[in-house]
Amino acid sequence: MSKRVLVTGGAGFIGSHFVDYLLQTYPDYQVVVLDALTYAGRLENLAEAQKSPRFQFIKGDVRDREAVRDALQGVHYVVHFAAETHVDRSILNPDAFITTDVYGTYVMLESARELGVERFVHVSTDEVYGSAEAGEFHEDAPLRPNSPYSASKAGADLLVRAYYQTYHLPLLTVRPSNTFGPRQYPEKLIPFFVTRALNDQSLPLYGDGQQVRDWLYVGDHVRAIDRVLHHGQGGKAYNIAGGNERTNIEITRKILHLLGKPETLIQFVADRPGHDRRYALDTTRIQGELGWRPEANFDQALTQTVQWYVDNPTWWQTILHEQAEYRDFVARWYNRSG
Ligand code: DAU
Repeated sequence: MSKRVLVTGGAGFIGSHFVDYLLQTYPDYQVVVLDALTYAGRLENLAEAQKSPRFQFIKGDVRDREAVRDALQGVHYVVHFAAETHVDRSILNPDAFITTDVYGTYVMLESARELGVERFVHVSTDEVYGSAEAGEFHEDAPLRPNSPYSASKAGADLLVRAYYQTYHLPLLTVRPSNTFGPRQYPEKLIPFFVTRALNDQSLPLYGDGQQVRDWLYVGDHVRAIDRVLHHGQGGKAYNIAGGNERTNIEITRKILHLLGKPETLIQFVADRPGHDRRYALDTTRIQGELGWRPEANFDQALTQTVQWYVDNPTWWQTILHEQAEYRDFVARWYNRSG
């Protein structure tokens, strides 16, 4: 059946993959992207989508009630990706995280309440649970965020819960683990290190490099959101993870190996303040109730991702040029004792 889907933050990394997936998978769907095109939202990420007559782009901010109301006209489903997402940036300047992630989500919920939608998926993060020293977090675990970023996402997550309990809106939440793939902005570990290594620049590894992340390929991520959007139970949160726990040093060595670059590029620098040691999720709910499983082979997906950056230098060189000032600032900061 034909549906109109609003994807906020659809010009970002995961959002744009989700848009491509929707247009390919559902020939009857109309897809509308609302994106403020901040530094991480890039129109070039929507190059494929723009070719479709079923696609519409609206430049607008989720904090802007009028823009959100306009974008929501005639919409059946909402998938809310729009957020500030980089932990280091949240440590250096939390402001935009609170206004976009918390207030922006409030505006989205309030507008959905006013206009009425059939389904609304809020894209949260595994970081809301805090660090998992051992074991795995189930969806009912308490939220114990440790960075301004994860605290702002936890705030949004709790607003979604409250809007479900209070107003009975058809709301669902996903909490995905560290995602990777083509078009990820080169500030996150994998694309940052790949592009630095390609330029023969040092790779600043925080602390001892033994922190653990569970890596999820973007293709698996968007399939999981599709399952939750169409089959998830209202009011529930769903963990999503790839089942690929790796230390940062392992990931770094793999990247260097794939690119044929020496390990002498690794530079241990001061640790990230409040750095979560490990993220780990129990994914029994989404696997058991919705039949989703990660399909990507981690090594193959990483190899393909690295190759994408090798093959698309214009995409990331433009960005590196734009963010040079920010990166210098971060580098000076992390190098303070490294
Ligand atoms: O877990 C899901 C989350 O994953 C998402 O909600 C966030 O939006 C996303 O940014 C990511 O958070 P992380 O902080 O885990 O990702 P990041 O790529 O920034 O860092 C991954 C790990 O690598 C982390 O332990 C910090 C470390 N790191 C990162 C950078 C950028 C370094 O050692 N050096 C670096 O230069």
